[in-house]
Amino acid sequence: MLKPLLQGIAFMVTATSVQAAPIDLIIDTDPGADDVVALFLAMASPDELNIRAITTVAGNVRLEKTSRNARLAREWAGREDVPVYAGAGRPLLRKPIYAAEVHGEEGLTGVEVKEPKAPLAQGNAVQYLVDTLSAAKPHSITIAMLGPQTNLALALVQRPEIAKGIKQVVVMGGAHFNGGNITPAAEFNLYADPHAAEVVLASGVQLTYLPLDVTHKLLTSDARLKQLAAVNNQASKRVVDILNAYITHDMDLYGMPGGPVHDASVIAYLLKPELFSGRRIHMSIDSREGPTFGQTIADWYGVLKQPANVLWVEQGDAQGLFDLLSARLARLE
Ligand code: RIB
Ligand code: CA
Repeated sequence: MLKPLLQGIAFMVTATSVQAAPIDLIIDTDPGADDVVALFLAMASPDELNIRAITTVAGNVRLEKTSRNARLAREWAGREDVPVYAGAGRPLLRKPIYAAEVHGEEGLTGVEVKEPKAPLAQGNAVQYLVDTLSAAKPHSITIAMLGPQTNLALALVQRPEIAKGIKQVVVMGGAHFNGGNITPAAEFNLYADPHAAEVVLASGVQLTYLPLDVTHKLLTSDARLKQLAAVNNQASKRVVDILNAYITHDMDLYGMPGGPVHDASVIAYLLKPELFSGRRIHMSIDSREGPTFGQTIADWYGVLKQPANVLWVEQGDAQGLFDLLSARLARLE
């Protein structure tokens, strides 16, 4: 009886007294309005997040624009030390789809888009993932996936053993209780490349999903947008302008009182996991052509009695997210 008690105390002491080491992080993204907010939050948190690289993928808009937008976010955040590698220009198998009706033709709503100063890094993002994860210490690198999972899937197909270098993959994607946002059954990132998501799921990496089930509970409001605006710097002004334009689509579609900032929840989860809760469950992905193409089948109640393969995050503290975002934006210019 004494041993578990001592172990518990040891955990509490460890958890409270030692500042955790920074997370070695690769952000894979398809900017995208909410991606840019997520990138700002991440780049404003260097004490906790050691961003090794940003890797871009086609998704919300074509690769050239998602890559330019990632470079622009980096310039706006004053973090041109972070390399940006362009990756896959199309999904593994399916016909490409985009979301310009949500994110605008340039992939960025509410702000003026221009050509950033700093160029892309040399080399393709997939090769960067293969090289970096192959050379990494076992289970040392975290990957935040904010768009279709094509880059990581291609890297895993090319060299499956890179899975050993991955600590965990945190995905914005999927939907179960909420229903889909690109079809009634599917969320956009999964629908845009379900085959890639299946490759990542099958790789056995430690996987956490932040689906629409949670991101649709973390909505903007007039008060929260005022809170962001009150930070009163260029970065917060850009975020408010981006969000004011971006949220109208979902507010109109769903009749919601505010809009979700999907991708920011992934970075907030890495920074303050205590803001979120979920359940380890068994999940599968439907990649058959038809009305459920891209659906995530989340066995929340364990009906199938299959071993859990993801942590499915279903609850989040909305005000906590916006408090964190406001505090971190204040660190930028
Ligand atoms: O369904 C929301 C997701 O699709 C977000 O990552 C958004 O940026 C789009 O990529
Ligand atoms: Ca995205």
